Amino acid sequence: MKSNIVAKISATGSAFPEKIVTNQDLVEKLAKLGVETNDDWIRERTGIEERRISDLSNPEERNSSLAARAARQALERSEVNPEEIDQIIFATCSPDTLVPSAACWLQQKIGAKKAWAYDVNAACSGFAYGLTIANQAIQSGAAKHILVIGSEVLSPFLNWHDRSICILFGDGAGAAVVSATDPSDESQILSSHLESDGGGWELFYTPAGGSNMEVTPQVYEQHLHKMTMKGREVFKFATRTLSEFALRAIRHHDIQMKDVDWFIPHQANLRIIEAVAKRLEVPMEQVIVNVNQFGNTSSATVPTALDQAVTSKKINKGDLVLLDVFGAGLTYGSVLLRF
Ligand code: ACO
Repeated sequence: MKSNIVAKISATGSAFPEKIVTNQDLVEKLAKLGVETNDDWIRERTGIEERRISDLSNPEERNSSLAARAARQALERSEVNPEEIDQIIFATCSPDTLVPSAACWLQQKIGAKKAWAYDVNAACSGFAYGLTIANQAIQSGAAKHILVIGSEVLSPFLNWHDRSICILFGDGAGAAVVSATDPSDESQILSSHLESDGGGWELFYTPAGGSNMEVTPQVYEQHLHKMTMKGREVFKFATRTLSEFALRAIRHHDIQMKDVDWFIPHQANLRIIEAVAKRLEVPMEQVIVNVNQFGNTSSATVPTALDQAVTSKKINKGDLVLLDVFGAGLTYGSVLLRF
């Protein structure tokens, strides 16, 4: 059934912690733990040059605080009042606290008094999942304005003794105000294709800290409460699913990749992004990249890249934008929208 209400992204915002941590800074930090790495390896294997890391002693750099900064920007730019927000969908896998949700922490910070607020954990795919839920809620008539957040402070969840993982991630927040609009508006969320495969849990997971395994002193010593990853397998899965779900999106609309103005893949590794762009025959000039500057910020990569491309006037109203994601879960999919 076709709805006579559609949804669009009416504005975006982003925020990062102040502290820039270069690869060289990491080399020095890890050396103190007896862990060896180097700038050349990180650049060549990942394309990452630096990332931002939150100062956890500063309440302004907690997950919901970064998200609040990003949200305030998006609200101001969309000219939507916080009290007009019907829902807050906070995509994250690194909330301030397990309870209450990051969304509730955020709600009180921005004064979105009428919203009902909840978290969505789809790891790095979270923003695409959140955007899709918002689109469906708006099309159903249940909401007029929804704040969708992709925000992470992953640094406390990283095992700084595991060089294959801790060099990849950074902290940051992205926000989008998603609003109801008329089908004649050229700006619209056009379609989503999302999937999950719980069978792939072992590729990226945190063994302890939930009902799976309690954190005991022994578990703590073995860093089992920190994220663990099978890097090579994630790499293969990512290049396959990113390519497949980009094609699903364009085939659904009977268009071709050359009709897409901007491609925003999840920013996990520049090599993954380049391999997918090559497979899809998308020139790198049309691919939005920020992994070099911020590392992998999980659910925040896509909304921060989108916001940076909008504020730098790369992406303009009416442009066709393809968001393409993968993450732990496993979760994956794409969202096609006209900005
Ligand atoms: N510095 C120096 N050497 C290192 C480092 C490091 N930081 N990390 C690993 N190495 C070494 C390894 O020990 C290995 O040495 P060896 O050959 O002597 O055994 C060598 O480098 C090669 O290791 P690989 O793991 O094979 O390296 P690869 O080229 O696969 O790159 C990487 C590793 C960057 C992790 C890559 O596999 C990758 O990016 N995978 C995808 C990760 C990803 O996307 N994660 C996001 C998950 S999504 C989510 O939801 C959070």
